[in-house]
Amino acid sequence: MKKLSTFTTRAAALAVSVLAAAPVFGADAPATLKDTFQNDFLMGVAINNRQIMEEDTNGVALIVSQYNAISPENVMKWEAIHPRAGTNGYDFGPADAYVAFGEKHHMMVVGHTLAWHSQTPAWVFRADDGRQLQGTNEADRQILLDRLHEHIQTVVGRYKGRVKVWDVVNEALSDGGENETNVLRRQSPWVRILGQEFIEKAFQWAHEADPDCILRYNDYSIENGPKRKRLITLIKSLQAKHIPVMAIGSQTHANLNWPTPQLEDEALTDIASLGLPIHITELDVDSSQRGQRNQSADVAANAQSGGGGQVSAADQKLAEQYGNLFRAFVNHRKDIKLVTFWGVNDRDSWRRNGNPLLFDGNWQPKPAFDAVIKAAKPVIATTASSKDSAH
Ligand code: XIL
Repeated sequence: MKKLSTFTTRAAALAVSVLAAAPVFGADAPATLKDTFQNDFLMGVAINNRQIMEEDTNGVALIVSQYNAISPENVMKWEAIHPRAGTNGYDFGPADAYVAFGEKHHMMVVGHTLAWHSQTPAWVFRADDGRQLQGTNEADRQILLDRLHEHIQTVVGRYKGRVKVWDVVNEALSDGGENETNVLRRQSPWVRILGQEFIEKAFQWAHEADPDCILRYNDYSIENGPKRKRLITLIKSLQAKHIPVMAIGSQTHANLNWPTPQLEDEALTDIASLGLPIHITELDVDSSQRGQRNQSADVAANAQSGGGGQVSAADQKLAEQYGNLFRAFVNHRKDIKLVTFWGVNDRDSWRRNGNPLLFDGNWQPKPAFDAVIKAAKPVIATTASSKDSAH
C-alpha cells in the first residue's frame, strides 16, 4: 500500500516535469532512467516520425528527459531511405531530421538498419526485367552485391561521424530448435541469393564508409539455446575472417514469462564470451494474453499476436519482469553498453496490444518504471537522497 502511494506521488511529480518540460531539482526530483544508470550503460529509445519532427511534444519531453541515446524506429530502413532504384532513389529528409534531432538534444545516434529481409523494397531483389535474382547466377549475385555496396556507401557515408552505431545486418539467423540445421534464415532473399557473403561484405563496406562507427549484428530471441548457438557460430566465423563486427545487438522483445532471469543471465554470459560489447537494442515486454505464446520478433508474427485482453494484474507482472531483466543487465554491466526501449509509450508501440513499455499512452510512468529504477545498484552521489525519499 505504502509503496503504491509513494509511486503515485512520484508518478505525479514526473508527469508534471514531463508535461511541463520543466526540470525539477533538489530532493524531490524524480529519478530518470539516464541518471539512474549513468554508471552502467546508456539508455536509449526508438523514436518515430512525429517525435523526430517534434510534433509529439509530450513524447519529445519524455525522450529528452529520460534517455541519452536514440534509434530510428523506421526512417532509416531501406524502404524509407532508398525506396526507388536509380539515381533519384533516395529520400533522406526524415533520416536527416532524425540525426539532427539527436545532435540537437546531445544524444548518441544509432542507425538501423542496412541489410534486412524486411521493409526492403521488392526491386532490390529483382533484375531490371522484373524477374527474381538467382543465387545460382553469378551476374545476378553481382547485381545484388553492387546494390548493397552502393546503398551502404551512400547511407553510412552521408552520416559519417554523426551516427555512432549502425545495425549493419538485422535478423539473419534461422529460427527454430535443435532440429533446424541452417545457421542462416533461408527465407531471406539476402541469404537465398548471396549466402553468408552479404553479411561479410556489409560489415566491410560499412567499415570503409565510416571507420570510427561501431558496427553491430542485431537479432531477436538469441536468448534461446539453439538460436544463440547459431549466433556464436556466425560471429566466430566472421571473427576468424577479420570481418569488423564490433557489437552484438540483442533485440529482447520479451513477454512476461520469457526470458526467465536464469535464461537471461545464461544468455548474457554466453554472448559475452564472444568478447564484444552487448547492446540491448529493442527492449519491450508484451503483457497481452496472446503475447505470452510469442517469443519471436518476426514482424508478421507480431502483427497478429498480442490482444486477447491483458493478463490479470498485468501492471504488476510487467513491473516484475522489467525488474528481473534490469537486475540481469546491471549484473552484466561490464559487457552491456546500451539498453534501448523500442518506443516511447504504449500507444506508440508496434506491440501496443501488449502495453509493453514503461510509460502509458498518456506518457505517465507505470509501476514498471519504478521497478526499473529500483533495479539499479545504489549510487553514492547527489541523486541518492532523492532515491531514498522515493522509497
Ligand atoms: C518495427 C517497427 O516498430 C514498426 O513500426 C514497423 O511497422 C515494423 O518494424 N525488429 C526490428 C525492428 O529490427 O525494426 C522492428 O520494428 C521490430 C522487430
